[in-house]
Amino acid sequence: MKTVVLVYSGGLDTSVCIPMMREDYGFDRVVTVTIDVGQPAEDVQIAADKAKALGTEHYTVDAKDEFAREYIFPAIKANGDYQGYPLSTAIARPLISLKAVEVAKKVKGDAFCHGCTGKGNDQFRIEFVMRTMAPELDIIAPMREKNMTRIEEIEYAKSRNVPIGQSLEKIWSIDENMWGRSIEGGRLEEPDYFPPEEIFQWTVNPQDAPNTPEEIAIGFENGVPVSLNGQMMQPVELIYKVKDISGKHGVGRVDVMEDRMLGLKVRENYECPAAVTLIAAHKALEALVCTKEELAFKAMVDRKWGELAYQGLWFDPLKEDLEAFINKIQERVNGVVHLRMYKGSATVIGRSSESALYSEDLASFDSKTFVQSEMTGSVKVHGLQSRMYWQLKK
Ligand code: ARG
Repeated sequence: MKTVVLVYSGGLDTSVCIPMMREDYGFDRVVTVTIDVGQPAEDVQIAADKAKALGTEHYTVDAKDEFAREYIFPAIKANGDYQGYPLSTAIARPLISLKAVEVAKKVKGDAFCHGCTGKGNDQFRIEFVMRTMAPELDIIAPMREKNMTRIEEIEYAKSRNVPIGQSLEKIWSIDENMWGRSIEGGRLEEPDYFPPEEIFQWTVNPQDAPNTPEEIAIGFENGVPVSLNGQMMQPVELIYKVKDISGKHGVGRVDVMEDRMLGLKVRENYECPAAVTLIAAHKALEALVCTKEELAFKAMVDRKWGELAYQGLWFDPLKEDLEAFINKIQERVNGVVHLRMYKGSATVIGRSSESALYSEDLASFDSKTFVQSEMTGSVKVHGLQSRMYWQLKK
């Protein structure tokens, strides 16, 4: 008996993979795995129902807590970003793949199957983890191999009694988890196409957001959020609450030109309400407790971390090394950040920390601790070389 483990979302692409595995690739046992990383609960259920209808052995893995603690929290500490994109899909892929590997070991699978196309980044992220953790298994990517059009896929699905749901009406390709929502397809990839309002589901249009601002307080310990408005919360709950408040105020819409791994330049639309708010708060706290040199250096480290995360190189040694540095700094990133949520923006309006490198006495206009007259000498030599250069130039 030959067993294939399919990373299954319940969508059209991965659904047509099921009969293909049996007919074209000779697997008599198809095991489907759906990983819950905080996509809408009904999608997880639809996947389970479709798997049942198609006669696979199905597993649903609830990975929400692990996603929050082991993937989103490191992203917050690194102010996770790639070209303005908070990496929501990117950081979920390694976990999804890892869970598929765990199921494959349990069911003694011979191969993996996934529904990634040959154009995107997900194929790299998913396969990297499979090859790292289970190098002995084959990997099959029918969407990439067969290059079918959507119409051909729907025809194929109909001929094999694969439920197609709303596939016919669906224009957008959507990927969701609790850290964000990506909307692609149709004309959305054109740099100059104005995104229609209907693509947004988690954020209201800022102009329709409440006219009264809402102030929130986020407490951090060791660089990760632990409380909201003074109330301690578990990671998943906190992320969902911040997501809802942010979305209600129209915070989190991201529209960027993105350089995909293949070099394709693509316009991307995201809604990442929790990510936008929590990273803004985290950065504000770092700005209070870190030295100027640490901040400048960490910006480079964060950028590199973001690139590795984007590429899905979740188990890369450099990523571990960067995290050693990041985690050391986070020991001091404790405190509270206040934000005002109002019509599309999450504005930091206050921050406090026991590790603050701020002295009211030194900075205040009303204090005499800082002896101003002592500055005369250093002001005199300021820009010494620049002044010499200017003299010569004249
Ligand atoms: N461009 C984004 C990324 O590479 C979004 C990908 C969305 N994936 C998808 N299968 N719809 O992270």
